[in-house]
Amino acid sequence: MKEIREFIKGEIGKNIIFLDNVGSTNTYAMELAGKGAPHGTVVITEWQTGGRGRMGRTWISPSGGNLYMSVILQPSIPAEDATLLTLLAGVACCRALRSGSGLPVEIKWPNDLLISGRKVGGILTEIKTKAGGIRFAVVGIGINVNVGTESFPEEVRTIATSLKAETSREQSVELLAAAILNEMDYWHNIMTGGGREKLLGEWRKMASLFGKAVDVVQGDKVLTGIAGDIDERGFLLLRLSSGAIIKVGAGDLTVWK
Ligand code: BTN
Repeated sequence: MKEIREFIKGEIGKNIIFLDNVGSTNTYAMELAGKGAPHGTVVITEWQTGGRGRMGRTWISPSGGNLYMSVILQPSIPAEDATLLTLLAGVACCRALRSGSGLPVEIKWPNDLLISGRKVGGILTEIKTKAGGIRFAVVGIGINVNVGTESFPEEVRTIATSLKAETSREQSVELLAAAILNEMDYWHNIMTGGGREKLLGEWRKMASLFGKAVDVVQGDKVLTGIAGDIDERGFLLLRLSSGAIIKVGAGDLTVWK
């Protein structure tokens, strides 16, 4: 794992903490950031005992060559723009996965990484705010790299996949991690340097949803509509059957078959 350091080009990943196992790299990184860990610090582990997904779900995190890492960011953007960090990580992962594996990886708003409609990875962004902005953010990335689909629990076997399952060969977790971190550094600099539109444009190229009928679950509410573009904050524009267009900042999205 430590060889990742040799491939790091920018600020993100200069300081990497390698753990054999941990409850959750996100929880660990949130604690570190709270104690003053600098921008770009990364926590990476072989396996997690309490991996966390969005909406309070569990992220199943066995050992055996998957990627579990969390990146501490201190972006100079307002807290309302935090969705952009998830989009940024999605772009970074998608680009790294496409160039490393050649697979047609897509992003399902806001945070799912898909191959042929099956989930190969996810992103969990958590933030700590301060007056007028973000004190720090932790962007957690989980990617199914070398796990066999037979080790997935029954209920996710038809909706999840791994790089190995798609390519029939083992992939280097280290090279993938370094490529993602370098991409994140590049896009973070673009975003904070006034290039938000460039980031959003790149995200749009990789998005899988435009024009599709979707259900968005928000707590006990379900919104049904046609997924459209994203706005300048990364919110999804959803056209309801009434014709009204609403902005969705968060939610769990299912595409109609
Ligand atoms: C999701 O799709 O629900 C997001 C999954 C995020 C999983 C990663 S694995 C590394 C980091 N640590 C965690 O506990 N979760 C994220």
